[in-house]
Amino acid sequence: MPVISKETINDIQRQANIVDIVGQYVTLEKRGKNYFGLCPFHNDVNNPSFCVNEEKKIFTCFSCHKSGNVFTFIEERENVSFIEAVKIVSDKIGYELKLDIKQNTQYEAHYEALDLASRFYQNNLHSSDGKEAREYLKNRGINEDIIDEFAIGFAPKGTDTITKMLLNKDFDENVLLESGITNRGNSLYDTFRNRITFPIHNDKGRIVGFSARIYQKIDEAKYINTRETPIFKKGEILFNYHRAQGEARKNKYLLIVEGQLDAIRIYSVGIKNVVATMGTALTSDHINLLKKLNVKIVLCMDNDQAGEKASLANGEIIESAGIPLSILRISGAKDPDEYLLNNSVEAFKDAIDNAITFFDFKMNYLKKDKNLDKVDDVSRYINQVIAELNKNKDDVLINLTINRLSEEYGIDKNVLLNKIIKVDTGIIEPKKGEIKRRISKIDKYCEIILYYMLNDIKYIKLYEQELSYLPIDLYNEIANDILAFYIKYNYISIADFITYEIEGERYDDVLKVIDHMIDQELSDEEYIVLMGKMKSLIDEKKIEELKMKLKTVSDINEKLKITNEIARIKKKDVLE
Ligand code: UTP
Ligand code: MN
Repeated sequence: MPVISKETINDIQRQANIVDIVGQYVTLEKRGKNYFGLCPFHNDVNNPSFCVNEEKKIFTCFSCHKSGNVFTFIEERENVSFIEAVKIVSDKIGYELKLDIKQNTQYEAHYEALDLASRFYQNNLHSSDGKEAREYLKNRGINEDIIDEFAIGFAPKGTDTITKMLLNKDFDENVLLESGITNRGNSLYDTFRNRITFPIHNDKGRIVGFSARIYQKIDEAKYINTRETPIFKKGEILFNYHRAQGEARKNKYLLIVEGQLDAIRIYSVGIKNVVATMGTALTSDHINLLKKLNVKIVLCMDNDQAGEKASLANGEIIESAGIPLSILRISGAKDPDEYLLNNSVEAFKDAIDNAITFFDFKMNYLKKDKNLDKVDDVSRYINQVIAELNKNKDDVLINLTINRLSEEYGIDKNVLLNKIIKVDTGIIEPKKGEIKRRISKIDKYCEIILYYMLNDIKYIKLYEQELSYLPIDLYNEIANDILAFYIKYNYISIADFITYEIEGERYDDVLKVIDHMIDQELSDEEYIVLMGKMKSLIDEKKIEELKMKLKTVSDINEKLKITNEIARIKKKDVLE
């Protein structure tokens, strides 16, 4: 798999002028140090809120808060992957891109063994061993084309057929055990026996494991999957992702279902932008895969109570990652597979188009166990909806919902509005019509400190001397990442740091930090004041923690030590 090294990407970034490149999409005008234009990422008709800094090589919109470097700009604008964006930028500036060939050789034998196993299972399905399994697939409406496309196979009935076959081909015993093809009991035996097999690929399209289904009425687990191995981690894999990613980008959405047979059915009727979760809850690694696509998600879980719970749980995870989301609840069938066997593709496409917002889904869900003719239930319902609104950052949604509740249940709007928590927005007050970022003062201080660290080594050194940690875990991790970057490369660049973090979990939060590009620059004195405030906040937090500890210890000497420590911190604050 060819990749472009971070060093090459940084080199391209150094040579690319962000103003020239962004200028090909947005008309920019210079004001002070920055260039301004109408933001291409939201409906920005009145005042240009999109801003590019040539020297720092970054952009931000102070209205919709999209930020990034030249690559992430192209990524968003052209709706391509980060690597494709790097290629586009290098084309634009005439940079000769040599792809660095980095092969992951460590697991090459594992991949080969899995590949061979898959081909063996495929052939075996068409042997006499697989006769009944073929019948089963036929009865479920899985035809030869689908069997070929998804490389569906059949694991032999014997105990160690595939293990022996691979050992005969000179594969190392450890490779077979480590890749999950083989198990060790008294002797070596095949992990999958007498089951229909579905190969599972990683995002690059290589087989990393199998899911295997029973086809007879027997009292065994319906599916068994490859156990967790160095290359098969259920939490990092979405079934069919490698086939779906291009289609998802093209259609600007990705459908997520529960079962691989649902994904297979949907794909085979021509809706190719579909993946399956393989029955687990979404993880942060899944979210990273989803973010890379930069498209909307339509979540379509099974039509039962578990599916409803899964919609809620997965929806929460997707939404809190900031990915646009809607929920599809099918009716008249237990899952999308059954639905498509009894309904037309058009009906299913209509259902996708009519998928509801996650918020509406939650509103419906909250109504379920209530009788809304009863005052008690109405009150409980409204309070739960308000609690949801308080989690939400969208002022428009808050307003619309309040209007709706007020009309539906005859409640004074002001009574409802008073229940919405006002969040301290810190130093900058947003202008009319802008999306307010709900952010506490302490978050804001952390972000500003990080922003300055990303702009000048001087602030990294100051941070190390004066603070050396931030009281919010997430920001503290970003600070550590900045230190790691500085130690590794011996310079700092906000634009290169974005590239450095691109595959990391903290990427979105790093972008929030860039938002501060449009803040008024702080003088050295003001910055020192800010650090002082941060120190007091850290001390306050330490005192809180010590007070909590005080409640749990019983030893008198220990208690004394803690109270002394609290007094020392308080005294230090007074003296400073
Ligand atoms: P489903 O039962 O919805 O699977 O479980 P399905 O694909 O629709 O299967 P059919 O239609 O009954 O044949 C959802 C997913 O949960 C995992 C599988 O990945 C399955 O696709 N699962 C389910 C297991 O890992 N083990 C099980 O025993 C059951
Ligand atoms: Mn099913």
